[in-house]
Amino acid sequence: MPPRLAHLHFGSRLVALLLAGAGPGLLAESGHSVEIVLPADTVMFAPSSLKGFSAAQANCVVCHSTEYIRSQPPLSLAAWTAEVKKMKKVFGAPIADDQVEPIAHYLAETYGPARAPASGTPAPK
Ligand code: HEC
Repeated sequence: MPPRLAHLHFGSRLVALLLAGAGPGLLAESGHSVEIVLPADTVMFAPSSLKGFSAAQANCVVCHSTEYIRSQPPLSLAAWTAEVKKMKKVFGAPIADDQVEPIAHYLAETYGPARAPASGTPAPK
């Protein structure tokens, strides 16, 4: 397929996704400019002197915001370890083997059972 066609194909898919996400309101508005305000997103973990903080910051916000991580129930070290391994094995996160433990340790300390009670309602899982 010539590159130009590939580009057009991607473009129309993107438009379709945007329309699907915005719902009928945007469709009705077609032809006018529409302003979409997205909710604030967080790409920072809670700062910590633990070694895994910078590793998590470097490895865990490549694909999604920290909201995915912070909205989990207070998981144990074992559960966080399994979560980090899942990101690596299942989703292909480029995390070095020797970073798995420090990251899980940081997450368990910061977002585990010992953390202060979360102010928001945990995401249903
Ligand atoms: C290669 C991309 C990628 C990286 C890097 C990545 N994740 Fe994920 N993560 C995903 C995907 C894909 C999902 C599933 C999203 C969905 O279900 O909609 C996910 C979901 C999650 C969830 C929600 C619970 C679950 O199991 O689905 C948590 C928690 C999470 N990631 C933590 C982490 C942590 C911690 C790191 C860093 C060690 C990390 N992620 C790095 C791709 C990634």
